[in-house]
Amino acid sequence: MERIRVQAAQPYDVCIGSGILEEFPEFLRVRAGAASPAVGSSGAYTPALMIVTDGNVAAHYLKGLVRATEAAGFRVHTALFPPGESLKSERPLFSLLGCMVRKGLARDSIVIALGGGVIGDFAGFAASVYMRGCGFVQVPTSLLAQVDSSVGGKVGINLREGKNLVGSFYSPLTVVCDTDTLKTLPEREMVSGLAEVVKYGLIRDASLFGALEGAFRGSPVGRDGRLSPQVVKERLLEDGTLLGSLVTGSVRIKSEVVGADEREAGLRMTLNFGHTFGHALEQLTGYRRYLHGEAVLLGMKMAVELSAASGMLQAAERERALGFLDIFRVPSVKGIDAAAMLAQMGRDKKKKAGSLRFVLLRGIGAAEIAPGVDPSAVIESVEAVRDRRAPPAAHR
Ligand code: NAD
Ligand code: GLY
Repeated sequence: MERIRVQAAQPYDVCIGSGILEEFPEFLRVRAGAASPAVGSSGAYTPALMIVTDGNVAAHYLKGLVRATEAAGFRVHTALFPPGESLKSERPLFSLLGCMVRKGLARDSIVIALGGGVIGDFAGFAASVYMRGCGFVQVPTSLLAQVDSSVGGKVGINLREGKNLVGSFYSPLTVVCDTDTLKTLPEREMVSGLAEVVKYGLIRDASLFGALEGAFRGSPVGRDGRLSPQVVKERLLEDGTLLGSLVTGSVRIKSEVVGADEREAGLRMTLNFGHTFGHALEQLTGYRRYLHGEAVLLGMKMAVELSAASGMLQAAERERALGFLDIFRVPSVKGIDAAAMLAQMGRDKKKKAGSLRFVLLRGIGAAEIAPGVDPSAVIESVEAVRDRRAPPAAHR
């Protein structure tokens, strides 16, 4: 098992390993117990738990977790919601908070978010406002949640007016990341999470990027020259150590960034590489065509094009980055209007002082925030990705 300390204002550990969910009550006692002021020194630590999850995840992991925590002496309640982004909204939030009151949960109770990023953001936000903040533990079960959303303390819900517009920075007591749960993750979700791993390589760790290239070199591609989500998932699971090392490497990078800039004053913004384009793609397609990471993957291609067009990224590095990003089969950008993308990005909440700011690459493993990017170069970058016929052959 790996344990990575996140040096946030309220520090916590991210514990990563295969099969560690079986020891969950121990993590609660040792990690959360040690960190929580609500816990006495007598060792009699049995606060009430509220496990929040969705139907897909519950089918695999809820019973086992309830059984284990009850056997360890915890009073356990569960709240089961339908899967999907629509959970991150007002009605389900108030429904969960009301349920917590009726079950008699107090400030020293602990909300356990068992699921992907939706459950983590939703349950974490509920914990952050319940009685002005109760205990919170993340048990991420999607790759995206393990490498990104469960680390860093951002929790929140959406408004009709936009995504993640209501939220808090709220540290979990601990994060328990069992990579075995990824065996049941749908294949496209695996690719979606992998896109965030690729992002870490591109923005901060050339050796991680090299390891990813190596991991997929020689994997069987389809007629379109790309890897199907099924092949990607099989490849990630076939090697017992690959997935664990990718999750650990990603969490290390995210925890460094969060430790240096928890409130996103500068460095943390680089984690949004590809996201400005990606969010616009998601919004223009009504959140139906792409999973979040798929849109980010396409957004990263656009950001690579923009980095090259802005003179920051050399041609060979552009080829290498695109050569790898292009091997993944994700829904196409066909029919996307580049001017509409630009308009959508203008509404992005990260826009500052009237000019668009993009995270661009100076090289593989080095990102910078570039203010005042030329709008026509942005349009051309979208068009370059949209209109490219064949994937560059660089990777094969
Ligand atoms: P998700 O939570 O919707 O999970 C994806 C799907 O996989 C769901 O249908 C879920 O039920 C299912 N699932 C999850 N784990 C499973 C498992 N082990 N076995 C079988 N099915 C499983 O989506 P996601 O991609 O995990 O997260 C996306 C959300 O995360 C978005 O709301 C996004 O805004 C948020 N996010 C937050 C942060 C942050 O820092 N807080 C960062 C990135 C993304
Ligand atoms: N996912 C971006 C961040 O946590 O800042």
